[in-house]
Amino acid sequence: MRTTKRETHDELAQRADAVRATLDPTRMPRHVAIIMDGNGRWAEVRGLTRLEGHRQGREAIRRTLEAARECGVEILTLYAFSTENSRRPLEEVEALMELLIDALQVEADGLYRNGVRLRVSGMIDEMPDDVRTALRRVIALTEGNASLTLNLALNYGGRRELTEAARRLAEAVAAGRLSPDEIDEDTLARYLFAPDLPDPDLLIRTGGEQRLSNFLLWQLAYAELYFTDVRWPDFGKLDFFAAIQAYQARDRRFGGVELG
Ligand code: IPE
Ligand code: IPE
Ligand code: MG
Repeated sequence: MRTTKRETHDELAQRADAVRATLDPTRMPRHVAIIMDGNGRWAEVRGLTRLEGHRQGREAIRRTLEAARECGVEILTLYAFSTENSRRPLEEVEALMELLIDALQVEADGLYRNGVRLRVSGMIDEMPDDVRTALRRVIALTEGNASLTLNLALNYGGRRELTEAARRLAEAVAAGRLSPDEIDEDTLARYLFAPDLPDPDLLIRTGGEQRLSNFLLWQLAYAELYFTDVRWPDFGKLDFFAAIQAYQARDRRFGGVELG
């Protein structure tokens, strides 16, 4: 949704509002999940460090949260750090952790005032102490909020999530708390990181790649997938509303057939 001519901030905001006005409020996705990709390439083409791309990505998160609130999306799950991302150079991983801690400190009040509830999904126990402390603080602060749930996927991997679920199910069986024939899809889903959240209706991936990169392998079974070349630091309200517009034009059949 970029144009070649440089648009002013006001023009872009007007276009975003215009697209938002076309959305059907009765068919909003309840839960939108986003693979926020392309920070590094955004920076590299500008001759900047990858870290600068991650810094700019923070602004995109702010815009996306605002857009989600404006159109009544209930849950936003953002893929911020995958279990595989720890293979990156230590310098980048440490910079990302510092950025996260800083963002949590700076944004805490704003999240609280805007009715956002922060949650996390992932192997949080394996994250550095200072990250866990910063997360715990904002989770506790925003616990009572209900207008939008921001679920941060941190140190998250879909295979890891399913492996943990399998291990904990096996423990329950071994302890005699569960019998193998009681295990069905609902039982397994209760052992995932965020069992109370509904599955995402819409998955957006920025940055041009068309893959899942180990994101929400179970939960995305019937999500609508939307890929855009826009790199995450450039992602704005217009792009978010355009993704929802595309979602609303889809026909979700869940394996069934149209009747009548
Ligand atoms: C996404 O941007 C942010 C994280 C994975 C933390 P990338 O850092 O993957 O950016 P590209 O894909 O290299 O451009
Ligand atoms: C996926 O992006 C992870 C996040 C956005 C946090 P990656 O950049 O890590 O994915 P690949 O390596 O392109 O598959
Ligand atoms: Mg990437």
